[in-house]
Amino acid sequence: MRYAHIVGWGCYLPEHVLTNDDLASIVETSDEWIYTRTGIRERRIAADKESTATLAFEAAARALAVANIPSPKVDLIVVATSTSEYIFPSTASLVQDYLGATRAGAFDLSAACSGFVYGLSMAADAIAAGSIDVALVIGAETMSRVLDWEDRATCILFGDGAGAVVLRGSDVPGGVMAATLRSDGSGSDLLSLPNLSRNPVPVYGTAYVNGHEQQTVHMNGRQVYRFATRVMSDSVEEVLTKAKLTVADVALVIPHQANVRIVEMAAKRLNLPVGKFFLNVDRVGNTSAASIPLALCDAIQQGRLQRDDHIVFVGFGGGLTWAAAVIKWDVTPPVVTPLRRNLRRVRYVVARARTRLRRLGRRFAAWAAGSPTPEARLKDADKKAILPKSKEDEERKL
Ligand code: ACO
Repeated sequence: MRYAHIVGWGCYLPEHVLTNDDLASIVETSDEWIYTRTGIRERRIAADKESTATLAFEAAARALAVANIPSPKVDLIVVATSTSEYIFPSTASLVQDYLGATRAGAFDLSAACSGFVYGLSMAADAIAAGSIDVALVIGAETMSRVLDWEDRATCILFGDGAGAVVLRGSDVPGGVMAATLRSDGSGSDLLSLPNLSRNPVPVYGTAYVNGHEQQTVHMNGRQVYRFATRVMSDSVEEVLTKAKLTVADVALVIPHQANVRIVEMAAKRLNLPVGKFFLNVDRVGNTSAASIPLALCDAIQQGRLQRDDHIVFVGFGGGLTWAAAVIKWDVTPPVVTPLRRNLRRVRYVVARARTRLRRLGRRFAAWAAGSPTPEARLKDADKKAILPKSKEDEERKL
Protein backbone atom coordinates (compact mmCIF):
# COMPACT_ATOMS: atom_id res chain seq x y z
CA MET A 1 0.00 0.00 0.00
CA ARG A 2 1.39 3.45 -0.96
CA TYR A 3 0.48 6.66 0.86
CA ALA A 4 0.84 10.19 -0.54
CA HIS A 5 2.61 12.45 1.96
CA ILE A 6 3.08 16.21 1.67
CA VAL A 7 6.85 16.62 1.86
CA GLY A 8 7.29 20.17 0.54
CA TRP A 9 5.40 23.44 0.24
CA GLY A 10 6.06 26.83 -1.28
CA CYS A 11 4.28 30.08 -2.03
CA TYR A 12 4.76 33.18 -4.07
CA LEU A 13 2.97 36.52 -3.83
CA PRO A 14 3.57 39.41 -6.23
CA GLU A 15 5.13 42.48 -4.64
CA HIS A 16 2.47 45.05 -5.45
CA VAL A 17 -0.09 45.52 -2.66
CA LEU A 18 -3.53 46.94 -3.51
CA THR A 19 -5.32 48.12 -0.38
CA ASN A 20 -9.02 48.73 0.10
CA ASP A 21 -8.27 52.46 0.17
CA ASP A 22 -6.52 52.13 -3.21
CA LEU A 23 -9.65 50.40 -4.53
CA ALA A 24 -11.82 53.24 -3.25
CA SER A 25 -10.07 55.48 -5.78
CA ILE A 26 -11.02 53.08 -8.63
CA VAL A 27 -14.66 52.20 -7.76
CA GLU A 28 -17.25 53.58 -5.37
CA THR A 29 -16.43 51.60 -2.24
CA SER A 30 -14.68 51.95 1.11
CA ASP A 31 -12.29 50.07 3.38
CA GLU A 32 -15.09 49.82 5.93
CA TRP A 33 -17.58 48.23 3.46
CA ILE A 34 -15.06 45.72 2.09
CA TYR A 35 -13.63 44.74 5.47
CA THR A 36 -16.95 44.28 7.26
CA ARG A 37 -18.51 42.29 4.37
CA THR A 38 -15.49 40.13 3.49
CA GLY A 39 -12.64 40.45 6.02
CA ILE A 40 -10.28 41.58 3.23
CA ARG A 41 -7.85 44.46 3.85
CA GLU A 42 -5.49 44.10 0.88
CA ARG A 43 -4.51 41.82 -2.00
CA ARG A 44 -1.49 41.39 -4.30
CA ILE A 45 -1.45 42.26 -8.00
CA ALA A 46 0.94 40.63 -10.47
CA ALA A 47 3.43 42.85 -12.30
CA ASP A 48 3.22 43.13 -16.11
CA LYS A 49 6.17 40.78 -16.58
CA GLU A 50 4.61 38.14 -14.32
CA SER A 51 2.12 35.51 -15.44
CA THR A 52 0.23 32.62 -13.87
CA ALA A 53 3.06 30.34 -15.07
CA THR A 54 5.86 32.45 -13.53
CA LEU A 55 4.00 32.69 -10.19
CA ALA A 56 3.41 28.93 -10.29
CA PHE A 57 7.07 28.29 -11.09
CA GLU A 58 8.26 30.36 -8.10
CA ALA A 59 5.92 28.51 -5.72
CA ALA A 60 6.88 25.12 -7.18
CA ALA A 61 10.63 25.85 -6.98
CA ARG A 62 10.24 26.76 -3.29
CA ALA A 63 8.20 23.61 -2.60
CA LEU A 64 10.85 21.41 -4.27
CA ALA A 65 13.54 23.16 -2.19
CA VAL A 66 11.69 22.32 1.07
CA ALA A 67 11.22 18.71 -0.08
CA ASN A 68 14.85 18.61 -1.26
CA ILE A 69 13.79 16.78 -4.41
CA PRO A 70 15.48 17.60 -7.73
CA SER A 71 13.04 18.56 -10.51
CA PRO A 72 13.92 15.58 -12.81
CA LYS A 73 12.50 13.31 -10.09
CA VAL A 74 9.01 14.83 -10.47
CA ASP A 75 6.58 12.47 -12.26
CA LEU A 76 3.53 14.71 -12.49
CA ILE A 77 2.75 18.44 -12.41
CA VAL A 78 -0.85 19.55 -11.93
CA VAL A 79 -1.68 23.26 -12.04
CA ALA A 80 -5.12 24.21 -10.79
CA THR A 81 -6.00 27.56 -12.34
CA SER A 82 -8.75 29.60 -13.96
CA THR A 83 -6.32 32.12 -15.42
CA SER A 84 -3.96 30.18 -17.68
CA GLU A 85 -2.30 32.29 -20.37
CA TYR A 86 -3.23 29.80 -23.06
CA ILE A 87 -5.93 27.16 -23.48
CA PHE A 88 -2.91 25.20 -24.69
CA PRO A 89 -0.09 24.85 -23.92
CA SER A 90 -1.12 24.28 -20.32
CA THR A 91 0.39 26.39 -17.56
CA ALA A 92 1.65 23.09 -16.14
CA SER A 93 3.68 22.43 -19.31
CA LEU A 94 5.29 25.88 -19.04
CA VAL A 95 6.13 25.23 -15.38
CA GLN A 96 7.54 21.79 -16.30
CA ASP A 97 9.84 23.50 -18.79
CA TYR A 98 10.91 26.30 -16.40
CA LEU A 99 11.73 23.70 -13.73
CA GLY A 100 13.58 21.39 -16.12
CA ALA A 101 11.29 18.59 -14.87
CA THR A 102 12.23 16.50 -17.88
CA ARG A 103 10.45 13.30 -16.83
CA ALA A 104 7.15 14.82 -15.71
CA GLY A 105 3.69 14.70 -17.25
CA ALA A 106 1.87 18.02 -16.92
CA PHE A 107 -1.69 19.27 -17.20
CA ASP A 108 -3.98 22.06 -15.98
CA LEU A 109 -7.07 21.42 -13.92
CA SER A 110 -10.16 23.59 -14.05
CA ALA A 111 -12.34 23.49 -10.93
CA ALA A 112 -12.16 27.20 -9.96
CA CYS A 113 -11.47 27.74 -6.26
CA SER A 114 -11.83 23.99 -5.52
CA GLY A 115 -9.09 23.20 -8.05
CA PHE A 116 -6.22 22.75 -5.59
CA VAL A 117 -8.11 20.13 -3.55
CA TYR A 118 -9.19 18.37 -6.77
CA GLY A 119 -5.53 18.30 -7.92
CA LEU A 120 -4.30 17.07 -4.56
CA SER A 121 -6.83 14.24 -4.59
CA MET A 122 -6.00 13.19 -8.19
CA ALA A 123 -2.26 13.21 -7.55
CA ALA A 124 -2.62 11.35 -4.22
CA ASP A 125 -4.74 8.67 -5.94
CA ALA A 126 -2.09 8.25 -8.67
CA ILE A 127 0.57 7.80 -5.97
CA ALA A 128 -1.61 5.33 -4.01
CA ALA A 129 -2.20 3.36 -7.23
CA GLY A 130 1.57 3.14 -7.72
CA SER A 131 1.59 4.80 -11.15
CA ILE A 132 3.72 7.76 -9.97
CA ASP A 133 5.91 8.54 -6.97
CA VAL A 134 6.45 12.33 -6.87
CA ALA A 135 3.84 14.95 -7.80
CA LEU A 136 3.76 18.72 -7.73
CA VAL A 137 0.29 20.16 -7.11
CA ILE A 138 0.09 23.89 -7.71
CA GLY A 139 -2.69 26.46 -7.39
CA ALA A 140 -1.85 29.66 -9.29
CA GLU A 141 -3.89 32.66 -10.40
CA THR A 142 -3.64 36.11 -11.92
CA MET A 143 -7.26 36.99 -11.14
CA SER A 144 -6.51 40.72 -11.55
CA ARG A 145 -6.40 40.12 -15.32
CA VAL A 146 -9.92 38.71 -15.57
CA LEU A 147 -11.77 41.22 -13.40
CA ASP A 148 -14.05 44.00 -14.54
CA TRP A 149 -12.41 46.87 -12.63
CA GLU A 150 -15.67 48.84 -12.92
CA ASP A 151 -17.69 46.14 -11.12
CA ARG A 152 -17.33 46.87 -7.41
CA ALA A 153 -19.16 43.65 -6.50
CA THR A 154 -16.32 41.48 -7.85
CA CYS A 155 -13.12 43.51 -8.26
CA ILE A 156 -12.78 44.05 -4.50
CA LEU A 157 -12.69 40.32 -3.77
CA PHE A 158 -9.80 38.83 -5.72
CA GLY A 159 -6.00 38.81 -5.69
CA ASP A 160 -3.03 37.14 -7.42
CA GLY A 161 -0.63 34.51 -6.08
CA ALA A 162 0.51 30.90 -6.19
CA GLY A 163 1.06 28.03 -3.77
CA ALA A 164 2.38 24.51 -4.27
CA VAL A 165 2.90 21.24 -2.45
CA VAL A 166 5.09 18.25 -3.28
CA LEU A 167 3.51 14.83 -2.71
CA ARG A 168 5.71 11.77 -2.36
CA GLY A 169 4.78 8.09 -2.08
CA SER A 170 5.72 6.16 1.07
CA ASP A 171 4.88 2.83 2.71
CA VAL A 172 4.25 4.66 6.01
CA PRO A 173 0.50 5.20 6.61
CA GLY A 174 -0.59 8.86 6.70
CA GLY A 175 -0.51 11.86 4.38
CA VAL A 176 -3.64 12.41 2.28
CA MET A 177 -6.16 10.17 4.09
CA ALA A 178 -9.40 10.90 2.23
CA ALA A 179 -10.93 13.37 -0.21
CA THR A 180 -14.37 14.21 -1.48
CA LEU A 181 -14.97 16.01 -4.78
CA ARG A 182 -18.37 17.36 -5.84
CA SER A 183 -19.98 19.46 -8.55
CA ASP A 184 -23.37 20.99 -9.38
CA GLY A 185 -23.31 22.41 -12.90
CA SER A 186 -26.87 23.70 -12.54
CA GLY A 187 -25.24 26.60 -10.69
CA SER A 188 -22.86 27.40 -13.56
CA ASP A 189 -24.66 30.72 -14.11
CA LEU A 190 -23.93 31.92 -10.55
CA LEU A 191 -20.18 32.25 -10.93
CA SER A 192 -18.44 32.24 -14.28
CA LEU A 193 -15.51 33.40 -16.36
CA PRO A 194 -16.43 32.99 -20.04
CA ASN A 195 -13.81 31.94 -22.55
CA LEU A 196 -13.11 33.30 -26.04
CA SER A 197 -14.62 30.19 -27.59
CA ARG A 198 -18.03 31.10 -26.13
CA ASN A 199 -18.27 33.82 -28.77
CA PRO A 200 -18.59 32.67 -32.38
CA VAL A 201 -15.59 34.14 -34.20
CA PRO A 202 -16.62 34.97 -37.75
CA VAL A 203 -13.11 35.51 -39.13
CA TYR A 204 -10.18 33.13 -38.93
CA GLY A 205 -7.29 34.55 -36.99
CA THR A 206 -9.21 37.45 -35.49
CA ALA A 207 -10.79 37.21 -32.09
CA TYR A 208 -13.90 39.37 -32.11
CA VAL A 209 -15.31 39.69 -28.65
CA ASN A 210 -18.87 40.80 -27.99
CA GLY A 211 -17.96 43.38 -25.38
CA HIS A 212 -15.03 43.25 -22.99
CA GLU A 213 -17.18 42.16 -20.05
CA GLN A 214 -17.56 38.74 -21.69
CA GLN A 215 -14.12 37.68 -20.49
CA THR A 216 -14.40 38.85 -16.90
CA VAL A 217 -15.70 37.22 -13.72
CA HIS A 218 -19.48 37.29 -13.32
CA MET A 219 -20.96 36.49 -9.93
CA ASN A 220 -24.24 36.37 -8.08
CA GLY A 221 -22.69 37.14 -4.69
CA ARG A 222 -25.71 36.38 -2.51
CA GLN A 223 -26.40 32.98 -4.10
CA VAL A 224 -22.71 32.00 -3.98
CA TYR A 225 -22.63 33.01 -0.31
CA ARG A 226 -25.59 30.75 0.49
CA PHE A 227 -24.12 27.83 -1.47
CA ALA A 228 -20.68 28.25 0.13
CA THR A 229 -21.87 28.25 3.76
CA ARG A 230 -23.86 25.05 3.13
CA VAL A 231 -21.28 23.01 1.21
CA MET A 232 -18.32 23.96 3.39
CA SER A 233 -19.74 22.33 6.48
CA ASP A 234 -21.32 19.41 4.55
CA SER A 235 -18.10 18.48 2.77
CA VAL A 236 -15.98 18.70 5.94
CA GLU A 237 -18.39 16.27 7.64
CA GLU A 238 -18.43 13.99 4.58
CA VAL A 239 -14.65 13.77 4.25
CA LEU A 240 -14.15 13.18 7.98
CA THR A 241 -16.62 10.28 7.85
CA LYS A 242 -14.65 8.85 4.91
CA ALA A 243 -11.43 9.12 6.96
CA LYS A 244 -13.19 7.54 9.99
CA LEU A 245 -12.60 10.70 12.05
CA THR A 246 -14.84 13.27 13.73
CA VAL A 247 -14.61 17.06 14.00
CA ALA A 248 -13.08 16.55 17.46
CA ASP A 249 -10.02 14.97 15.77
CA VAL A 250 -9.36 18.04 13.61
CA ALA A 251 -6.51 20.30 14.67
CA LEU A 252 -6.94 22.88 11.92
CA VAL A 253 -9.23 23.54 8.96
CA ILE A 254 -7.62 25.41 6.08
CA PRO A 255 -10.58 26.70 4.06
CA HIS A 256 -10.71 28.47 0.71
CA GLN A 257 -10.12 32.12 1.62
CA ALA A 258 -13.14 33.87 0.12
CA ASN A 259 -14.88 35.64 2.94
CA VAL A 260 -14.55 35.59 6.74
CA ARG A 261 -18.33 35.56 7.16
CA ILE A 262 -18.65 32.35 5.12
CA VAL A 263 -16.05 30.69 7.38
CA GLU A 264 -17.83 31.92 10.53
CA MET A 265 -21.12 30.42 9.31
CA ALA A 266 -19.45 27.10 8.44
CA ALA A 267 -17.76 27.00 11.87
CA LYS A 268 -21.14 27.52 13.53
CA ARG A 269 -22.76 24.73 11.50
CA LEU A 270 -19.89 22.38 12.39
CA ASN A 271 -19.95 23.40 16.05
CA LEU A 272 -16.26 24.26 15.88
CA PRO A 273 -14.62 27.42 17.24
CA VAL A 274 -13.64 29.89 14.48
CA GLY A 275 -10.09 29.69 15.87
CA LYS A 276 -9.84 26.18 14.38
CA PHE A 277 -10.09 27.74 10.90
CA PHE A 278 -6.95 29.31 9.51
CA LEU A 279 -7.53 32.69 7.86
CA ASN A 280 -5.24 34.95 5.84
CA VAL A 281 -7.88 36.47 3.54
CA ASP A 282 -7.26 39.89 5.14
CA ARG A 283 -3.77 39.97 3.56
CA VAL A 284 -4.27 38.25 0.20
CA GLY A 285 -7.99 38.40 -0.71
CA ASN A 286 -9.56 35.57 -2.68
CA THR A 287 -6.79 34.02 -4.80
CA SER A 288 -9.09 31.28 -6.14
CA ALA A 289 -7.16 28.01 -6.70
CA ALA A 290 -4.06 29.43 -4.98
CA SER A 291 -5.84 30.27 -1.75
CA ILE A 292 -5.56 26.97 0.16
CA PRO A 293 -1.82 26.35 -0.49
CA LEU A 294 -1.11 30.03 0.26
CA ALA A 295 -2.94 29.68 3.59
CA LEU A 296 -1.10 26.41 4.28
CA CYS A 297 2.27 28.18 3.90
CA ASP A 298 1.19 30.94 6.30
CA ALA A 299 -0.15 28.38 8.83
CA ILE A 300 3.18 26.52 8.76
CA GLN A 301 5.13 29.76 9.13
CA GLN A 302 2.99 30.75 12.13
CA GLY A 303 3.61 27.36 13.79
CA ARG A 304 -0.05 26.34 13.60
CA LEU A 305 0.69 22.76 12.51
CA GLN A 306 2.18 20.12 14.81
CA ARG A 307 3.41 16.67 13.89
CA ASP A 308 0.57 14.11 13.55
CA ASP A 309 -2.15 16.77 13.47
CA HIS A 310 -5.17 16.03 11.32
CA ILE A 311 -5.87 18.96 9.04
CA VAL A 312 -8.71 19.54 6.59
CA PHE A 313 -8.57 21.47 3.32
CA VAL A 314 -11.97 22.63 2.06
CA GLY A 315 -12.70 24.60 -1.10
CA PHE A 316 -15.72 25.80 -3.09
CA GLY A 317 -16.22 27.85 -6.18
CA GLY A 318 -17.29 28.12 -9.81
CA GLY A 319 -18.80 25.08 -11.46
CA LEU A 320 -20.32 25.03 -8.97
CA THR A 321 -17.67 22.80 -7.39
CA TRP A 322 -16.64 21.94 -3.85
CA ALA A 323 -14.06 19.60 -2.37
CA ALA A 324 -12.42 18.61 0.91
CA ALA A 325 -9.42 16.53 1.93
CA VAL A 326 -8.10 15.21 5.26
CA ILE A 327 -4.34 15.13 5.74
CA LYS A 328 -2.28 13.66 8.53
CA TRP A 329 0.50 16.20 8.96
CA ASP A 330 3.47 13.90 9.52
CA VAL A 331 6.16 16.02 7.94
CA THR A 332 9.77 16.46 8.93
CA PRO A 333 11.32 18.56 6.17
CA PRO A 334 14.99 17.82 5.46
CA VAL A 335 17.54 20.51 6.25
CA VAL A 336 18.45 22.26 3.00
CA THR A 337 21.80 24.04 2.98
CA PRO A 338 22.13 27.40 1.15
CA LEU A 339 24.59 25.70 -1.23
CA ARG A 340 21.96 23.13 -2.28
CA ARG A 341 19.36 25.89 -2.66
CA ASN A 342 21.68 27.88 -4.93
CA LEU A 343 22.55 24.79 -6.98
CA ARG A 344 18.85 24.30 -7.56
CA ARG A 345 18.53 27.87 -8.90
CA VAL A 346 21.42 27.19 -11.29
CA ARG A 347 19.50 24.14 -12.57
CA TYR A 348 16.54 26.39 -13.45
CA VAL A 349 18.79 28.83 -15.33
CA VAL A 350 20.21 25.86 -17.25
CA ALA A 351 16.64 24.68 -18.00
CA ARG A 352 15.81 28.06 -19.59
CA ALA A 353 19.05 28.01 -21.60
CA ARG A 354 18.26 24.48 -22.81
CA THR A 355 14.81 25.62 -23.98
CA ARG A 356 16.35 28.49 -25.99
CA LEU A 357 18.87 26.12 -27.55
CA ARG A 358 16.14 23.63 -28.47
CA ARG A 359 14.08 26.35 -30.12
CA LEU A 360 17.10 27.56 -32.05
CA GLY A 361 17.87 23.98 -33.05
CA ARG A 362 14.31 23.52 -34.38
CA ARG A 363 14.52 26.74 -36.40
CA PHE A 364 17.86 25.74 -37.81
CA ALA A 365 16.56 22.27 -38.76
CA ALA A 366 13.53 23.87 -40.45
CA TRP A 367 15.77 26.33 -42.31
CA ALA A 368 18.14 23.53 -43.40
CA ALA A 369 15.16 21.53 -44.67
CA GLY A 370 13.99 24.56 -46.66
CA SER A 371 10.76 25.04 -44.64
CA PRO A 372 9.50 28.64 -44.51
CA THR A 373 9.88 30.48 -41.19
CA PRO A 374 6.68 31.37 -39.27
CA GLU A 375 7.16 35.04 -40.33
CA ALA A 376 7.44 34.08 -44.01
CA ARG A 377 4.33 31.91 -43.67
CA LEU A 378 2.36 34.87 -42.27
CA LYS A 379 3.53 37.19 -45.07
CA ASP A 380 2.53 34.56 -47.62
CA ALA A 381 -0.89 34.16 -46.03
CA ASP A 382 -1.33 37.92 -46.05
CA LYS A 383 -0.55 38.05 -49.76
CA LYS A 384 -3.11 35.35 -50.50
CA ALA A 385 -5.59 37.14 -48.21
CA ILE A 386 -6.25 33.88 -46.33
CA LEU A 387 -6.51 35.86 -43.12
CA PRO A 388 -8.81 38.86 -43.55
CA LYS A 389 -7.49 41.78 -41.52
CA SER A 390 -10.67 43.04 -39.96
CA LYS A 391 -14.36 42.39 -39.49
CA GLU A 392 -15.11 45.01 -42.15
CA ASP A 393 -12.87 43.15 -44.62
CA GLU A 394 -14.81 39.97 -43.96
CA GLU A 395 -18.19 41.70 -44.30
CA ARG A 396 -17.02 43.21 -47.61
CA LYS A 397 -16.01 39.73 -48.77
CA LEU A 398 -19.43 38.33 -47.92
N1 ACO B 1 -18.66 48.74 -2.02
C1 ACO B 1 -19.76 49.38 -1.59
N2 ACO B 1 -21.01 48.93 -1.83
C2 ACO B 1 -21.13 47.79 -2.55
C3 ACO B 1 -20.01 47.09 -3.05
C4 ACO B 1 -18.73 47.61 -2.74
N3 ACO B 1 -17.62 47.00 -3.16
N4 ACO B 1 -20.45 46.00 -3.71
C5 ACO B 1 -21.78 46.02 -3.67
N5 ACO B 1 -22.20 47.11 -2.97
C6 ACO B 1 -23.56 47.51 -2.65
C7 ACO B 1 -24.57 46.97 -3.65
O1 ACO B 1 -24.69 47.81 -4.78
C8 ACO B 1 -25.81 46.94 -2.81
O2 ACO B 1 -26.33 48.26 -2.77
P1 ACO B 1 -27.95 48.49 -2.78
O3 ACO B 1 -28.46 47.83 -1.53
O4 ACO B 1 -28.06 49.97 -2.78
O5 ACO B 1 -28.43 47.82 -4.04
C9 ACO B 1 -25.33 46.62 -1.41
O6 ACO B 1 -23.94 46.96 -1.39
C10 ACO B 1 -25.50 45.19 -1.03
O7 ACO B 1 -25.00 44.37 -2.10
P2 ACO B 1 -24.95 42.80 -2.02
O8 ACO B 1 -24.35 42.27 -3.27
O9 ACO B 1 -26.30 42.30 -1.64
O10 ACO B 1 -23.93 42.63 -0.79
P3 ACO B 1 -23.68 41.38 0.11
O11 ACO B 1 -23.96 41.67 1.51
O12 ACO B 1 -24.27 40.13 -0.48
O13 ACO B 1 -22.08 41.23 0.00
C11 ACO B 1 -20.43 39.96 -1.20
C12 ACO B 1 -21.48 41.05 -1.28
C13 ACO B 1 -19.33 40.41 -0.27
C14 ACO B 1 -19.87 39.74 -2.61
C15 ACO B 1 -21.09 38.65 -0.65
O14 ACO B 1 -22.26 38.36 -1.37
C16 ACO B 1 -20.17 37.48 -0.76
O15 ACO B 1 -19.14 37.43 -0.15
N6 ACO B 1 -20.55 36.44 -1.55
C17 ACO B 1 -19.70 35.30 -1.77
C18 ACO B 1 -18.78 35.62 -2.91
C19 ACO B 1 -17.61 34.69 -3.02
O16 ACO B 1 -17.09 34.22 -2.04
N7 ACO B 1 -17.21 34.46 -4.27
C20 ACO B 1 -16.07 33.71 -4.57
C21 ACO B 1 -16.39 32.29 -4.77
S1 ACO B 1 -14.96 31.39 -5.14
C22 ACO B 1 -14.64 31.30 -6.81
O17 ACO B 1 -14.78 30.26 -7.41
C23 ACO B 1 -14.21 32.45 -7.62
